Amino acid sequence: MNTIELIQILPKAELHLHIEGTFEPELMFEIAKRNGIDLPHDSVESLKDTYEFENLQEFLDIYYQGVNVLQTEQDFYDLTWAYLQRAKADNVVHTEIMYDPQSHTERGIDFEIAINGIHRALSDAQSQLGISSFLILSLLRHLSEEECLATLEQAKAHMDKFDAIGLDSSELGNPPEKFINLYAMADEMKLLKVAHAGEEGPAEYVWSAIDQLNIDRIDHGNRCLEDDKLVDYIIKKDLTLTVCPLSNLKLCVVDDLKQHPIKVMLDKGLNATVNSDDPAYFGGYVNDNFNAITEALELSEQDIVQLVKNSFTGSFLPESHIQEHLKAIDKILA
Ligand code: ADE
Ligand code: ZN
Repeated sequence: MNTIELIQILPKAELHLHIEGTFEPELMFEIAKRNGIDLPHDSVESLKDTYEFENLQEFLDIYYQGVNVLQTEQDFYDLTWAYLQRAKADNVVHTEIMYDPQSHTERGIDFEIAINGIHRALSDAQSQLGISSFLILSLLRHLSEEECLATLEQAKAHMDKFDAIGLDSSELGNPPEKFINLYAMADEMKLLKVAHAGEEGPAEYVWSAIDQLNIDRIDHGNRCLEDDKLVDYIIKKDLTLTVCPLSNLKLCVVDDLKQHPIKVMLDKGLNATVNSDDPAYFGGYVNDNFNAITEALELSEQDIVQLVKNSFTGSFLPESHIQEHLKAIDKILA
């Protein structure tokens, strides 16, 4: 079996995925048409031509434009269902999806519309595709803490539909400590907690996400490697990093996949995982990410198996489910 076949055959979990970042141009045009929205591009190709980014902010500006097309509960269902089918093709059996409620409420879409559409697709995925999932309500860090607190307050009526909070959007200038009260409120609500940290922001942001927000998992975390004490601390705390190789390449976090730090992370003993972040914009879903780093970094079968196992041990699944998934992997390998 070659590595492409190995990557395909292994069941895996995806832990870092923005559902709005799975909005493929073809579906965007279809939904825009049915909602009577004129896109500023006349074809899928000319829209795709704009997907060249020099940094995170250039990407976010285009990503928030795309989101405007989503209006109805069915739109959110269709978006989520399309991702889940694509995930199924990559043998994803569990996914922990982020969505940005504020990028919808800020433009006048009721809170219920997005969460209900996404939730319905996730329920159908469990029954029809055998994919389990958690939903992470991700707050936009370029907004004020007061606005994020108000959104979390609104979310209280939907506690049955989500499991964790996250923090995304423009990292530089919006450090984790801006959101101490938000994460304290999430604690009171017994939510799990993740945050993007160390994607563009410095190692200090990873420190403060851990110590001041008390996060359960780190999204990206690349820049932790600039601080050996921090690396030791993350290992001691047994925190998983949700690493996104093609995203890092597209957003110029790394210049070349051959310099991608994921192999170094593994060698240092960090629980790194492979994820697709915003696959419609970054050129690939989770298996594409695995294949790209396997080729660029000449990963061994053992590295690939470790990364896939980390996706389960780093998930928020109950321990018994994690063990079942790990056993299933060992059975396939045997
Ligand atoms: N929102 C969607 N994708 C993101 C990323 N990679 N970093 C921060 N915010 C995001
Ligand atoms: Zn992300």
